[in-house]
Amino acid sequence: MKSILCLSSIILFSILSLVSSQSRYDLPDHYFINCGSKSDISFAERTFVGDDNNDASFSVSGGKIAVQSNNPTTVYETARVFTKKTSYNLKADDTSTFVMVRLHFSPFSTNEFELHNSIFDVEASGFKLLSNFKVENTTLVKDFIIPIGSERKFTIDFTPSRGSTSGFVNAIEAFTTPNDIFGQGVTLKRISPNGEHGEMSDISASYAFNPIYRINVGGPMINFDGDPLRRNWTPDDQYILNNKTARNSTPFTGFPTYNGHGSHIYDAPVNVYATAKQLSNTSANVTWNFAVDKNALYLVRAHFCDFISIGLVDPKDAFHFFVYTHYNESIEPGNKVGVPQAPFYNDFVVDSDESGFLNISIGAISDTNQTAFLNGVEIMELVTRSGSVGTHKKGEKNVYIVVGCAVGGVVLVLVLLVLGFLIGSKYGKKSKPVAEAKSESNAVPSYGQSSYTSINIDFTINHPSPIPNLNLNLKFAFADILQATNNFDEKLMIGKGGFGKVYKGTLPDGMIVAVKRGEKGHGQGRPEFVTEIMVLSKIRHRHLVTLIGYCDEKSEMILVYEFMKKGTLQDHLYDANNDCPKLSWTQRLEICISATRGLHYLHTGSDAGIIHRDVKSTNILLNENYVAKVADFGISRLDNLEEDEISDIKGSFGYLDPEYIRCMKLTQKSDVYSFGVVLLEVLCARPALDNTLPPREANLADWAIKQIHNGKVEEIIDPFLSDTINPNSLRKFLETVERCLKDTGDERPSMIDVLWDLEYALKLHQMVGNREPHEDSTMNTSLQLPMSMIQRLPSHVNDDSEVNESSASSFPSESQVFSQLKMGEAR
Ligand SMILES: *[C@@H]1O[C@H](CO)[C@@H](O)[C@H](O)[C@H]1NC(C)=O
Ligand SMILES: *[C@@H]1O[C@H](CO)[C@@H](O)[C@H](O)[C@H]1NC(C)=O
Ligand SMILES: *[C@@H]1O[C@H](CO)[C@@H](O)[C@H](O)[C@H]1NC(C)=O
Ligand SMILES: *[C@@H]1O[C@H](CO)[C@@H](O)[C@H](O)[C@H]1NC(C)=O
Ligand SMILES: *[C@@H]1O[C@H](CO)[C@@H](O)[C@H](O)[C@H]1NC(C)=O
Ligand SMILES: *[C@@H]1O[C@H](CO)[C@@H](O)[C@H](O)[C@H]1NC(C)=O
Ligand SMILES: *[C@@H]1O[C@H](CO)[C@@H](O)[C@H](O)[C@H]1NC(C)=O
Repeated sequence: MKSILCLSSIILFSILSLVSSQSRYDLPDHYFINCGSKSDISFAERTFVGDDNNDASFSVSGGKIAVQSNNPTTVYETARVFTKKTSYNLKADDTSTFVMVRLHFSPFSTNEFELHNSIFDVEASGFKLLSNFKVENTTLVKDFIIPIGSERKFTIDFTPSRGSTSGFVNAIEAFTTPNDIFGQGVTLKRISPNGEHGEMSDISASYAFNPIYRINVGGPMINFDGDPLRRNWTPDDQYILNNKTARNSTPFTGFPTYNGHGSHIYDAPVNVYATAKQLSNTSANVTWNFAVDKNALYLVRAHFCDFISIGLVDPKDAFHFFVYTHYNESIEPGNKVGVPQAPFYNDFVVDSDESGFLNISIGAISDTNQTAFLNGVEIMELVTRSGSVGTHKKGEKNVYIVVGCAVGGVVLVLVLLVLGFLIGSKYGKKSKPVAEAKSESNAVPSYGQSSYTSINIDFTINHPSPIPNLNLNLKFAFADILQATNNFDEKLMIGKGGFGKVYKGTLPDGMIVAVKRGEKGHGQGRPEFVTEIMVLSKIRHRHLVTLIGYCDEKSEMILVYEFMKKGTLQDHLYDANNDCPKLSWTQRLEICISATRGLHYLHTGSDAGIIHRDVKSTNILLNENYVAKVADFGISRLDNLEEDEISDIKGSFGYLDPEYIRCMKLTQKSDVYSFGVVLLEVLCARPALDNTLPPREANLADWAIKQIHNGKVEEIIDPFLSDTINPNSLRKFLETVERCLKDTGDERPSMIDVLWDLEYALKLHQMVGNREPHEDSTMNTSLQLPMSMIQRLPSHVNDDSEVNESSASSFPSESQVFSQLKMGEAR
């Protein structure tokens, strides 16, 4: 537990609460059915309700009872036997999309029945789950995931096959799963032994899933009690082709970072993600080979959790995941989840061929540092409503799938499942990222440092591909850009980052500008480009960076900004690579105040209000006079969108609002949180996230708040500032920081409150020397302010014109600043 807490504090406050809230799923208490019995029985940690009981919440039409033992202790000693089609009628709750159906079979003989000889079909809601199914002398558990329609009812039908007189079942589990175990509306790549051949959309709407293999790679067998959906996972060793090239990774002893955006805990349990196999020889591949039906269609879900790399993984580091030999996908753990030890999975639709084998491999990419590994794999047959499998024609002969866990020789499609395989899954991960953020340490700031790479911003809700004509007057010709930057002369390059490069340019009229050239395949995509143009062409403010123009010719994505001579705020705080003079406390407060004005205007200056979403010290730029302007609106969005339109978490680690991560609740208060982290950077002169520090210090917000509460403020303050800050100013500032970093948005102040507080902190600092009673930051003493100031108080400051106006001069005079304080607000 210690290591769990320790790990989670590396990145975010509340990984543990994420696990409990974001991915919360409580196993429903129905249906667990003890077939062929009048009495309930406790079995596998559940109460299985006798189906020969009129009070049951379900009904079964027909069938006979077979009893092996008069005093059964398991569900396997009784069975319901069907001599003709018989149905269990069940209901799903109102909101569920999928039901997991798990059937228990354990044939026995009685005077009346010889269940080993039964051959039968099982259908659920029109999906033919089993055809000509026969159970040998063994206990077999089969599970399926079926989509259920709007009718909320579903049936499970058992029918003896032609030539057989009976079918049977010993127990049924049928319960709803989390709705997102399969993504809805998601498009997956379709792969055959010859390589990629198209895509399939929204498969979970048309298919049921029959898991054939559920493998815990590099780990032990997992039973129902180790999985939230009661699935069994089996070890991979017997499927590996050449085990010399692979070795079991040292199992992870911490807790995978289920943050709601890679896998959920119900996609695969901790024990799957905490074990893996990795390459033992980086110049070879590891291949697993699975016997499958010929010419059938499968969903292959590969589970990954990089607990092998230390710390944050470079988003560009990758390894190969092969499906057969001709298709490979780059697996980029750092890009996919951005957090260390965060689990995720990739889904593929795979056609099997005449060989009856499906193989997957992992291999290193020689020029990256990423270890190749695999934590788990599920192979699920896609079952159509008609009962044929996939889109291929499939003979009547066998749809009994399954897998012998002890098969040495492979070759056949056997009927032998040791204990049920189930499903658990979810699509959507592919198009539904993840907090795609990275550490600041390797960021090269300038003109907004976007630290995400995925696309799907909806500033306009619709896809913002074409740039609206209204901004044509901002449009530059590519030729002009070339001229301004001397053909992108490397000597003029002033910044570089994931998005591409930034050049200093000179327009024909002599104006100095910054030219940010988006690089395809890096960082920002077109949606961010368009969003940035739309926001900055609509909204202008002295403390928001000014967009001079853009160019989108020849698939270029170029943005032209006013030149911000002094670079980013971060440069002046702790970036060791430059020799910017250190800022005084007054300068720091003035910069924070300007940035606050910019953000306040962003939040309130347009009809709907805009949330920036990526407030951080590299997105606050300084001009030659150290006037701060907020930059980078690529992932900003209107504040009036419905919550369910927020499909993904974006932003930068170290700055992300815990409430946003937990609840997908994005509000202006998320910016306030991030700004609180910036305030700490300003005070402490260190990055928001620094993984070179001991874990408890890595996250600035986390660590600083603790130190503040423990009265160790002097240990966190930038040594350069120590003893230069007026204590009352510091107290006010710390109070503000604490309020900005409150756990829930409701407790945090709005930007205008922050503005008042910072102005007050500035005022208190500047009063050093002539210590007046009102330098204390309590409301009580602030009431003792000179009357001259009180008279200048506006009745209400909360409107934009006020802020705009007061931002007309570089920094408002003290009295102007102070005039914005409402007495009651000067807490
Ligand atoms: C299964 O067991 C029954 C009774 O014990 C026996 O008659 C039958 O031959 C067995 N079948 C197989 C395939 O072992
Ligand atoms: C590889 O497989 C062989 C045969 O199954 C087994 O004896 C051996 O222990 C395995 N080696 C490793 C490293 O797992
Ligand atoms: C690693 O694999 C390569 C290619 O399969 C092989 O040539 C080499 O001998 C292997 N190295 C070790 C140490 O096994
Ligand atoms: C790994 O497998 C792929 C696909 O089969 C192949 O192209 C590649 O050469 C293999 N790499 C090594 C090192 O064997
Ligand atoms: C992986 O796939 C890409 C195309 O998608 C191909 O260019 C590359 O050669 C493949 N790599 C290997 C090792 O097969
Ligand atoms: C994967 O399976 C195909 C047949 O489907 C086979 O030709 C190929 O050799 C296998 N690849 C490996 C690396 O075993
Ligand atoms: C791999 O790591 C080394 C040392 O950590 C680093 O110098 C090198 O640039 C990295 N390579 C890549 C491709 O990231």
